[in-house]
Amino acid sequence: MDANELGSELSKILVTEAELKARLAEMAREIEADYAGAEQPPLLVGVLKGAVMVMADLARELSFHAEMDWMAVSSYGASTKSSGVVRILKDLDTEIAHRDVLIVEDIIDSGLTLSWLKENLESRGANSVRICAMLRKPDAAKVEVDVAYVGFDIPTDFVVGYGLDYAERYRNLRDVGVLAEHVYADAG
Ligand code: PRP
Repeated sequence: MDANELGSELSKILVTEAELKARLAEMAREIEADYAGAEQPPLLVGVLKGAVMVMADLARELSFHAEMDWMAVSSYGASTKSSGVVRILKDLDTEIAHRDVLIVEDIIDSGLTLSWLKENLESRGANSVRICAMLRKPDAAKVEVDVAYVGFDIPTDFVVGYGLDYAERYRNLRDVGVLAEHVYADAG
């Protein structure tokens, strides 16, 4: 889906498809260099559903055999989200003890999901657990998360596209855009 098909639903385009693609290529080169000495390439772990686009593009950009697995997680609701407790809806199919794991995410907002997930995967005996996130909202951070690879730091706006949704819409928008206020105000 192209932004121009959305009319006034976006107040602006924040990161274009071309910018996402160019930055992903740079990140892939960094990742290749960092894991060059490893015995085995890292296992890429995508967090459903938002990470689907970045996983598909990053994996194809990488020059090593990129093994992929997926998790689905959910907070118990607004109150629990702030406590950082996360429920696993779909776990990995892969045994990760002694593996290098690279978590692939679309966005880090409060940081609670990723900080919980990193600790959870480390507790399974992974050799290393690093995070790659396409977007990060530094001003929204509630916990510090050590992110090895970040695409873009962005303001705390309501962003959609490139995997990010509002009510399951806009995930297939090619760019990352700011959702116009009237869209969610009308709904609420
Ligand atoms: C988003 C995103 C991260 C999380 C980040 O997922 O993909 O997993 O929120 O937020 P945090 O830093 O505040 O924890 P979401 O729960 O919207 O699910 P989705 O990927 O299915 O859209």
